[in-house]
Amino acid sequence: MAAPGQADGVFARAQRRMLGVDPLLPGPRLDAPHCGAPLGAGPGADAAAVARCEHWTAEPGSLDLSWGAARRFQLSATIAGPEVPAGLSQLLTQWRGHLAGVPGTGEEDTAAIVTWPSRDADGVATLLRYGFDPLEVLAARTAPRRRAAPAVTPASVAAESPAAESLAGSRRDLDGALRVRRAWQADVDVVARLAIEVIRFDSRFGAVNERPDTLAALRQEAAGLLAEPEPWTWLAERDGEPVALLAAQRPAAAHWIAPMVRLAPAAYLMLMFVHPAERGSGTGGRLVAEYHRAADAAGVAVTLLHYEQLNPLSVPFWSRHGYRPLWTTWQATPASAFR
Ligand SMILES: CC(C)(COP(=O)(O)OP(=O)(O)OC[C@H]1O[C@@H](n2cnc3c(N)ncnc32)[C@H](O)[C@@H]1OP(=O)(O)O)[C@@H](O)C(=O)NCCC(=O)NCCS
Repeated sequence: MAAPGQADGVFARAQRRMLGVDPLLPGPRLDAPHCGAPLGAGPGADAAAVARCEHWTAEPGSLDLSWGAARRFQLSATIAGPEVPAGLSQLLTQWRGHLAGVPGTGEEDTAAIVTWPSRDADGVATLLRYGFDPLEVLAARTAPRRRAAPAVTPASVAAESPAAESLAGSRRDLDGALRVRRAWQADVDVVARLAIEVIRFDSRFGAVNERPDTLAALRQEAAGLLAEPEPWTWLAERDGEPVALLAAQRPAAAHWIAPMVRLAPAAYLMLMFVHPAERGSGTGGRLVAEYHRAADAAGVAVTLLHYEQLNPLSVPFWSRHGYRPLWTTWQATPASAFR
Protein backbone atom coordinates (compact mmCIF):
# COMPACT_ATOMS: atom_id res chain seq x y z
CA MET A 1 0.00 0.00 0.00
CA ALA A 2 1.00 3.67 -0.32
CA ALA A 3 2.91 4.99 2.70
CA PRO A 4 1.31 7.99 4.52
CA GLY A 5 3.59 10.62 2.94
CA GLN A 6 3.16 9.00 -0.43
CA ALA A 7 -0.64 9.36 -0.13
CA ASP A 8 -0.27 13.17 -0.34
CA GLY A 9 1.51 12.78 -3.68
CA VAL A 10 -1.24 10.45 -4.89
CA PHE A 11 -3.91 12.99 -3.91
CA ALA A 12 -2.11 15.81 -5.73
CA ARG A 13 -1.62 13.78 -8.89
CA ALA A 14 -5.15 12.39 -8.71
CA GLN A 15 -6.52 15.91 -8.46
CA ARG A 16 -4.73 16.93 -11.67
CA ARG A 17 -6.02 13.82 -13.42
CA MET A 18 -9.59 14.34 -12.22
CA LEU A 19 -9.70 17.92 -13.48
CA GLY A 20 -8.84 16.58 -16.90
CA VAL A 21 -11.57 13.95 -16.62
CA ASP A 22 -14.29 16.36 -15.45
CA PRO A 23 -13.84 20.02 -14.46
CA LEU A 24 -16.84 19.84 -12.11
CA LEU A 25 -15.21 17.26 -9.84
CA PRO A 26 -13.96 18.54 -6.50
CA GLY A 27 -10.54 17.72 -5.09
CA PRO A 28 -10.14 14.53 -3.01
CA ARG A 29 -11.98 14.81 0.33
CA LEU A 30 -9.25 14.42 2.91
CA ASP A 31 -11.65 15.07 5.81
CA ALA A 32 -14.19 12.38 4.85
CA PRO A 33 -15.02 9.95 7.68
CA HIS A 34 -13.41 6.52 7.31
CA CYS A 35 -12.74 3.35 9.27
CA GLY A 36 -8.95 3.59 9.02
CA ALA A 37 -8.44 0.41 6.97
CA PRO A 38 -5.13 0.74 5.10
CA LEU A 39 -6.11 0.65 1.43
CA GLY A 40 -3.60 1.66 -1.20
CA ALA A 41 -1.92 0.51 -4.36
CA GLY A 42 1.57 1.28 -5.56
CA PRO A 43 4.20 2.50 -5.10
CA GLY A 44 4.75 1.81 -8.80
CA ALA A 45 4.10 4.97 -10.78
CA ASP A 46 1.67 3.06 -12.97
CA ALA A 47 -0.87 2.25 -10.28
CA ALA A 48 -0.69 4.82 -7.52
CA ALA A 49 -3.96 4.86 -5.65
CA VAL A 50 -5.35 5.26 -2.15
CA ALA A 51 -8.83 4.66 -0.83
CA ARG A 52 -10.90 5.14 2.27
CA CYS A 53 -13.68 2.95 3.55
CA GLU A 54 -16.57 4.32 5.57
CA HIS A 55 -18.89 2.07 7.59
CA TRP A 56 -22.26 3.80 7.70
CA THR A 57 -25.48 2.77 9.47
CA ALA A 58 -28.81 4.53 8.90
CA GLU A 59 -30.63 6.01 11.89
CA PRO A 60 -33.72 3.93 12.63
CA GLY A 61 -36.80 5.68 11.22
CA SER A 62 -34.74 8.09 9.09
CA LEU A 63 -35.48 8.92 5.47
CA ASP A 64 -31.94 7.75 4.61
CA LEU A 65 -33.16 4.19 5.09
CA SER A 66 -35.48 4.59 2.11
CA TRP A 67 -32.66 5.57 -0.24
CA GLY A 68 -30.71 2.33 0.18
CA ALA A 69 -29.41 -0.38 2.47
CA ALA A 70 -29.48 0.01 6.25
CA ARG A 71 -25.70 -0.65 6.53
CA ARG A 72 -23.44 0.69 3.81
CA PHE A 73 -19.74 0.20 3.32
CA GLN A 74 -18.59 3.03 1.09
CA LEU A 75 -15.30 3.24 -0.76
CA SER A 76 -13.81 6.55 -1.92
CA ALA A 77 -11.01 5.72 -4.31
CA THR A 78 -8.35 8.21 -5.38
CA ILE A 79 -6.44 7.07 -8.43
CA ALA A 80 -3.48 9.06 -9.65
CA GLY A 81 -3.13 6.92 -12.76
CA PRO A 82 -2.06 6.54 -15.43
CA GLU A 83 -3.13 2.88 -15.09
CA VAL A 84 -6.63 3.42 -13.70
CA PRO A 85 -7.96 -0.15 -14.10
CA ALA A 86 -4.89 -1.64 -12.42
CA GLY A 87 -5.00 0.79 -9.47
CA LEU A 88 -8.73 0.36 -8.96
CA SER A 89 -8.47 -3.39 -9.23
CA GLN A 90 -5.81 -3.52 -6.49
CA LEU A 91 -7.94 -1.30 -4.23
CA LEU A 92 -11.06 -3.43 -4.75
CA THR A 93 -9.15 -6.63 -3.99
CA GLN A 94 -7.81 -5.13 -0.76
CA TRP A 95 -11.25 -3.78 0.15
CA ARG A 96 -12.85 -7.17 -0.39
CA GLY A 97 -10.29 -8.62 2.05
CA HIS A 98 -11.04 -5.87 4.57
CA LEU A 99 -14.83 -6.39 4.36
CA ALA A 100 -14.42 -10.16 4.70
CA GLY A 101 -13.22 -9.49 8.25
CA VAL A 102 -16.14 -7.19 9.15
CA PRO A 103 -19.08 -8.99 10.82
CA GLY A 104 -22.48 -8.77 9.11
CA THR A 105 -21.40 -7.86 5.56
CA GLY A 106 -23.30 -10.91 4.26
CA GLU A 107 -26.59 -9.74 5.73
CA GLU A 108 -29.41 -8.88 3.36
CA ASP A 109 -29.83 -5.18 4.19
CA THR A 110 -26.19 -4.23 3.52
CA ALA A 111 -24.40 -2.83 0.48
CA ALA A 112 -20.85 -2.21 -0.70
CA ILE A 113 -20.85 1.11 -2.52
CA VAL A 114 -18.28 2.77 -4.77
CA THR A 115 -19.05 6.34 -5.79
CA TRP A 116 -17.08 6.79 -9.00
CA PRO A 117 -16.77 9.86 -11.27
CA SER A 118 -19.23 9.20 -14.09
CA ARG A 119 -16.84 10.48 -16.77
CA ASP A 120 -13.93 8.39 -15.52
CA ALA A 121 -14.78 5.71 -18.03
CA ASP A 122 -11.49 3.85 -17.50
CA GLY A 123 -12.84 2.39 -14.23
CA VAL A 124 -16.11 1.04 -15.61
CA ALA A 125 -14.96 -2.38 -16.85
CA THR A 126 -13.16 -3.02 -13.55
CA LEU A 127 -16.24 -2.19 -11.47
CA LEU A 128 -18.37 -4.49 -13.63
CA ARG A 129 -15.80 -7.28 -13.36
CA TYR A 130 -15.90 -7.07 -9.56
CA GLY A 131 -19.69 -7.46 -9.64
CA PHE A 132 -20.88 -3.89 -9.03
CA ASP A 133 -24.04 -2.49 -10.62
CA PRO A 134 -24.25 1.20 -11.61
CA LEU A 135 -27.55 2.02 -9.91
CA GLU A 136 -27.64 5.75 -9.18
CA VAL A 137 -26.28 8.94 -10.64
CA LEU A 138 -25.63 12.30 -9.03
CA ALA A 139 -26.25 14.70 -11.91
CA ALA A 140 -25.37 18.39 -12.20
CA ARG A 141 -26.70 21.36 -14.13
CA THR A 142 -24.60 24.51 -14.18
CA ALA A 143 -26.49 27.78 -14.10
CA PRO A 144 -26.67 29.78 -17.32
CA ARG A 145 -24.18 32.64 -17.19
CA ARG A 146 -26.61 35.46 -16.55
CA ARG A 147 -25.98 38.39 -14.25
CA ALA A 148 -29.60 39.08 -13.43
CA ALA A 149 -32.55 36.80 -13.91
CA PRO A 150 -35.41 38.29 -15.93
CA ALA A 151 -38.62 39.20 -14.12
CA VAL A 152 -40.94 36.23 -13.75
CA THR A 153 -44.41 36.64 -15.18
CA PRO A 154 -46.96 33.98 -16.11
CA ALA A 155 -46.31 34.84 -19.77
CA SER A 156 -42.54 34.41 -19.43
CA VAL A 157 -43.00 31.08 -17.62
CA ALA A 158 -45.27 29.86 -20.41
CA ALA A 159 -42.94 31.14 -23.13
CA GLU A 160 -39.69 29.81 -21.68
CA SER A 161 -40.93 26.54 -20.24
CA PRO A 162 -39.91 23.49 -22.25
CA ALA A 163 -43.54 22.47 -21.75
CA ALA A 164 -44.73 25.32 -23.93
CA GLU A 165 -42.51 24.31 -26.83
CA SER A 166 -43.63 20.74 -26.94
CA LEU A 167 -47.31 21.27 -26.19
CA ALA A 168 -47.37 22.31 -29.81
CA GLY A 169 -45.46 19.16 -30.79
CA SER A 170 -45.45 15.63 -29.38
CA ARG A 171 -46.89 16.33 -25.95
CA ARG A 172 -50.22 15.07 -24.69
CA ASP A 173 -52.98 17.66 -24.25
CA LEU A 174 -54.98 17.24 -21.04
CA ASP A 175 -58.33 18.81 -20.16
CA GLY A 176 -58.65 21.17 -17.23
CA ALA A 177 -56.62 24.05 -15.88
CA LEU A 178 -53.10 23.41 -14.60
CA ARG A 179 -51.78 25.69 -11.89
CA VAL A 180 -48.26 25.63 -10.48
CA ARG A 181 -47.90 27.11 -7.02
CA ARG A 182 -45.48 27.15 -4.15
CA ALA A 183 -46.20 24.67 -1.34
CA TRP A 184 -46.74 26.01 2.18
CA GLN A 185 -46.82 24.56 5.67
CA ALA A 186 -50.45 23.49 5.25
CA ASP A 187 -49.32 21.22 2.37
CA VAL A 188 -47.13 18.89 4.45
CA ASP A 189 -49.44 15.88 3.99
CA VAL A 190 -49.94 16.51 0.26
CA VAL A 191 -46.16 16.79 -0.26
CA ALA A 192 -45.51 13.60 1.75
CA ARG A 193 -48.20 11.69 -0.16
CA LEU A 194 -46.77 12.68 -3.56
CA ALA A 195 -43.21 12.14 -2.33
CA ILE A 196 -43.81 8.54 -1.29
CA GLU A 197 -44.83 7.83 -4.88
CA VAL A 198 -41.31 8.77 -6.00
CA ILE A 199 -39.91 6.18 -3.60
CA ARG A 200 -42.43 3.57 -4.78
CA PHE A 201 -41.60 4.27 -8.43
CA ASP A 202 -37.83 4.28 -7.88
CA SER A 203 -37.90 1.09 -5.77
CA ARG A 204 -38.15 -0.81 -9.07
CA PHE A 205 -34.57 0.09 -9.95
CA GLY A 206 -32.46 -1.68 -7.34
CA ALA A 207 -31.39 0.82 -4.68
CA VAL A 208 -34.43 2.59 -3.21
CA ASN A 209 -36.75 0.85 -0.68
CA GLU A 210 -40.03 1.83 0.91
CA ARG A 211 -39.77 1.12 4.66
CA PRO A 212 -42.49 0.98 7.33
CA ASP A 213 -41.46 4.48 8.50
CA THR A 214 -41.02 6.06 5.06
CA LEU A 215 -44.24 8.08 5.05
CA ALA A 216 -43.59 9.40 8.58
CA ALA A 217 -40.00 10.30 7.59
CA LEU A 218 -41.26 12.10 4.48
CA ARG A 219 -43.76 14.07 6.56
CA GLN A 220 -40.93 15.17 8.82
CA GLU A 221 -38.77 16.09 5.83
CA ALA A 222 -41.65 18.01 4.24
CA ALA A 223 -42.34 19.87 7.49
CA GLY A 224 -38.68 20.97 7.55
CA LEU A 225 -38.71 22.08 3.92
CA LEU A 226 -42.00 23.93 4.24
CA ALA A 227 -40.99 25.73 7.43
CA GLU A 228 -38.83 28.08 5.30
CA PRO A 229 -40.27 31.49 4.44
CA GLU A 230 -40.29 30.78 0.67
CA PRO A 231 -39.81 27.04 0.27
CA TRP A 232 -38.30 25.73 -2.94
CA THR A 233 -41.17 23.27 -3.12
CA TRP A 234 -43.82 23.56 -5.78
CA LEU A 235 -47.07 21.71 -6.46
CA ALA A 236 -48.96 21.44 -9.72
CA GLU A 237 -52.72 21.21 -9.42
CA ARG A 238 -55.16 20.25 -12.14
CA ASP A 239 -58.62 21.60 -11.43
CA GLY A 240 -57.51 22.09 -7.82
CA GLU A 241 -56.21 18.51 -7.34
CA PRO A 242 -52.48 18.11 -6.58
CA VAL A 243 -50.93 16.10 -9.43
CA ALA A 244 -47.20 16.83 -9.21
CA LEU A 245 -44.44 17.84 -6.81
CA LEU A 246 -40.94 19.28 -6.98
CA ALA A 247 -39.04 19.74 -3.71
CA ALA A 248 -35.53 21.18 -3.50
CA GLN A 249 -33.04 22.32 -0.88
CA ARG A 250 -31.50 25.77 -1.03
CA PRO A 251 -27.70 25.88 -0.67
CA ALA A 252 -27.90 26.33 3.13
CA ALA A 253 -29.71 23.00 3.42
CA ALA A 254 -27.75 21.29 0.63
CA HIS A 255 -24.40 21.59 2.48
CA TRP A 256 -24.29 17.79 2.91
CA ILE A 257 -23.96 17.23 -0.87
CA ALA A 258 -22.06 20.41 -1.80
CA PRO A 259 -18.57 18.84 -1.38
CA MET A 260 -19.36 16.53 -4.32
CA VAL A 261 -19.02 19.36 -6.84
CA ARG A 262 -16.39 22.01 -7.52
CA LEU A 263 -18.82 24.92 -8.07
CA ALA A 264 -20.61 26.75 -5.25
CA PRO A 265 -23.22 27.51 -4.14
CA ALA A 266 -25.01 24.24 -4.89
CA ALA A 267 -28.72 23.48 -4.49
CA TYR A 268 -30.19 19.97 -4.42
CA LEU A 269 -33.43 18.68 -5.89
CA MET A 270 -34.76 16.07 -3.48
CA LEU A 271 -38.06 14.88 -4.93
CA MET A 272 -39.91 15.12 -8.21
CA PHE A 273 -43.08 13.29 -9.07
CA VAL A 274 -45.82 13.68 -11.67
CA HIS A 275 -48.99 11.61 -11.40
CA PRO A 276 -49.02 8.91 -14.12
CA ALA A 277 -52.15 10.32 -15.82
CA GLU A 278 -50.44 13.70 -16.10
CA ARG A 279 -47.07 12.57 -17.51
CA GLY A 280 -45.94 13.65 -20.94
CA SER A 281 -48.08 16.80 -20.95
CA GLY A 282 -45.37 19.21 -19.86
CA THR A 283 -46.21 19.40 -16.15
CA GLY A 284 -42.79 18.15 -15.05
CA GLY A 285 -41.14 20.67 -17.37
CA ARG A 286 -43.15 23.53 -15.87
CA LEU A 287 -42.14 22.61 -12.33
CA VAL A 288 -38.49 22.35 -13.30
CA ALA A 289 -38.61 25.72 -15.08
CA GLU A 290 -40.04 27.26 -11.90
CA TYR A 291 -37.28 25.76 -9.77
CA HIS A 292 -34.47 26.71 -12.15
CA ARG A 293 -35.75 30.25 -12.36
CA ALA A 294 -35.68 30.55 -8.54
CA ALA A 295 -32.25 28.92 -8.26
CA ASP A 296 -30.72 31.02 -11.06
CA ALA A 297 -32.18 34.21 -9.57
CA ALA A 298 -30.70 33.28 -6.17
CA GLY A 299 -27.22 32.97 -7.72
CA VAL A 300 -27.00 29.18 -7.40
CA ALA A 301 -24.03 28.04 -9.49
CA VAL A 302 -24.97 24.38 -9.78
CA THR A 303 -28.11 22.36 -9.14
CA LEU A 304 -27.67 18.71 -8.22
CA LEU A 305 -30.01 15.74 -8.08
CA HIS A 306 -29.91 11.96 -7.89
CA TYR A 307 -31.67 9.74 -10.36
CA GLU A 308 -31.84 5.98 -10.70
CA GLN A 309 -29.73 4.92 -13.67
CA LEU A 310 -32.40 2.44 -14.82
CA ASN A 311 -35.40 4.80 -14.47
CA PRO A 312 -36.55 5.16 -18.08
CA LEU A 313 -38.56 8.33 -17.35
CA SER A 314 -36.13 10.35 -15.29
CA VAL A 315 -32.88 9.76 -17.22
CA PRO A 316 -34.00 11.42 -20.50
CA PHE A 317 -36.11 13.98 -18.64
CA TRP A 318 -33.18 15.31 -16.62
CA SER A 319 -30.89 15.23 -19.61
CA ARG A 320 -33.39 17.41 -21.53
CA HIS A 321 -33.36 19.84 -18.62
CA GLY A 322 -29.61 20.33 -18.66
CA TYR A 323 -28.38 17.70 -16.19
CA ARG A 324 -25.43 15.46 -16.90
CA PRO A 325 -23.84 12.66 -14.86
CA LEU A 326 -21.22 13.71 -12.29
CA TRP A 327 -20.88 10.69 -9.96
CA THR A 328 -22.19 7.16 -10.47
CA THR A 329 -22.98 5.01 -7.46
CA TRP A 330 -21.95 1.40 -8.03
CA GLN A 331 -23.40 -1.12 -5.61
CA ALA A 332 -23.13 -4.75 -4.59
CA THR A 333 -25.79 -6.16 -2.27
CA PRO A 334 -25.19 -7.64 0.24
CA ALA A 335 -21.87 -5.98 0.91
CA SER A 336 -19.99 -9.28 0.66
CA ALA A 337 -21.42 -9.94 -2.82
CA PHE A 338 -18.68 -8.42 -4.92
CA ARG A 339 -16.22 -10.83 -6.36
C1 LIG B 1 -39.82 12.14 -14.77
C2 LIG B 1 -41.15 12.87 -14.61
C3 LIG B 1 -41.10 13.75 -13.39
C4 LIG B 1 -41.38 13.74 -15.86
O1 LIG B 1 -42.61 14.46 -15.71
P1 LIG B 1 -43.56 14.79 -16.97
O2 LIG B 1 -44.65 15.66 -16.50
O3 LIG B 1 -43.93 13.54 -17.69
O4 LIG B 1 -42.55 15.62 -17.84
P2 LIG B 1 -42.82 16.37 -19.22
O5 LIG B 1 -44.19 16.08 -19.71
O6 LIG B 1 -42.42 17.78 -19.01
O7 LIG B 1 -41.73 15.67 -20.13
C5 LIG B 1 -41.70 14.26 -20.32
C6 LIG B 1 -41.10 13.84 -21.64
O8 LIG B 1 -41.59 12.53 -22.01
C7 LIG B 1 -42.48 12.62 -23.13
N1 LIG B 1 -43.69 11.82 -22.95
C8 LIG B 1 -44.62 11.69 -23.88
N2 LIG B 1 -45.58 10.89 -23.44
C9 LIG B 1 -45.26 10.50 -22.21
C10 LIG B 1 -45.91 9.67 -21.25
N3 LIG B 1 -47.09 9.07 -21.48
N4 LIG B 1 -45.32 9.51 -20.05
C11 LIG B 1 -44.15 10.10 -19.80
N5 LIG B 1 -43.50 10.91 -20.68
C12 LIG B 1 -44.04 11.09 -21.90
C13 LIG B 1 -42.83 14.05 -23.15
O9 LIG B 1 -43.24 14.43 -24.42
C14 LIG B 1 -41.53 14.72 -22.74
O10 LIG B 1 -40.55 14.61 -23.73
P3 LIG B 1 -40.01 15.90 -24.50
O11 LIG B 1 -39.20 16.68 -23.51
O12 LIG B 1 -39.19 15.31 -25.59
O13 LIG B 1 -41.21 16.61 -24.98
C15 LIG B 1 -42.34 11.87 -14.52
O14 LIG B 1 -42.27 10.95 -15.61
C16 LIG B 1 -42.40 11.08 -13.24
O15 LIG B 1 -42.97 11.53 -12.25
N6 LIG B 1 -41.82 9.86 -13.25
C17 LIG B 1 -41.92 8.97 -12.09
C18 LIG B 1 -41.12 9.46 -10.90
C19 LIG B 1 -39.73 9.86 -11.28
O16 LIG B 1 -39.10 9.25 -12.13
N7 LIG B 1 -39.26 10.95 -10.65
C20 LIG B 1 -37.96 11.47 -10.92
C21 LIG B 1 -37.05 10.94 -9.88
S1 LIG B 1 -35.42 11.64 -10.10
